[in-house]
Amino acid sequence: MAVEVLSTADGRDKTAMSRRHAAAWFAARDAGHAPPVGTAAPPPRPARPETPELLDPRDVPKRKPGSPQGRIALLHAVAHIELNAVDLHWDLVARFAHVPMPPGYYDDWVKAADEESKHFNLMCDCLEELGSFYGALPAHAGMWRAAEDTAEDHMGRLAVVPMVLEARGLDVTPGMIDLFRKAGADSAVAALESIYAEEVGHVAYGSKWFHFLCGRDGLDPKPVFHELVRKYFHGVLKPPFNDEKRAEAGLPPDFYWPLTEPQ
Ligand SMILES: [Fe+2]
Ligand SMILES: [Fe+2]
Repeated sequence: MAVEVLSTADGRDKTAMSRRHAAAWFAARDAGHAPPVGTAAPPPRPARPETPELLDPRDVPKRKPGSPQGRIALLHAVAHIELNAVDLHWDLVARFAHVPMPPGYYDDWVKAADEESKHFNLMCDCLEELGSFYGALPAHAGMWRAAEDTAEDHMGRLAVVPMVLEARGLDVTPGMIDLFRKAGADSAVAALESIYAEEVGHVAYGSKWFHFLCGRDGLDPKPVFHELVRKYFHGVLKPPFNDEKRAEAGLPPDFYWPLTEPQ
């Protein structure tokens, strides 16, 4: 199921398949069993549509956030992040399927992938409402780098993707919601608010399963987290942090503050 999603290029097709597979997983779970996980050979990079053109972040044109074109560019960037997030969660399922994990692990990541699929579609709907669409603008080429860097390191993947990158989303989303509220863009505000509410869960799943793996191996989570983020994440973490939502997601300040200092 995960590999099928990863191998589908078109965004709307990918997310429709992702939602169907998630529904099948949860139907089985509701019926009282966990489908066998098996093993899989996910592609090194997920299939992607022909557009958007993927550019080095330095070459992605900057637009004034307060202008209508700036708001379209922002929604387009979020749509791109959400599409990558769909793939990141299914990749987490497929890439590490050989690691024995409790069924609850798959419940969490299948749910996260399902939610990212909704998020992508919400962002596409907002873009279309504004006369644009996903693929109309260039997008960030570096989104799969964290996945490639941690393709062989399960704990590294959990540390960098949900606990650093998705946690960063919690820091920046309230400001984005304000910007759309000031512009009177009600549907974008509603969409971003629902994304914001669900992203807390994704960070929490990351923290939960990171701690689970540390506990299973008798490791002290905090120093291991610092070591893995320094190994796989390029650069330092940038405040301001959303301490409240990070705490809600099981990320205490002593996990992220030390990573604001270069070593
Ligand atoms: Fe999302
Ligand atoms: Fe997420």
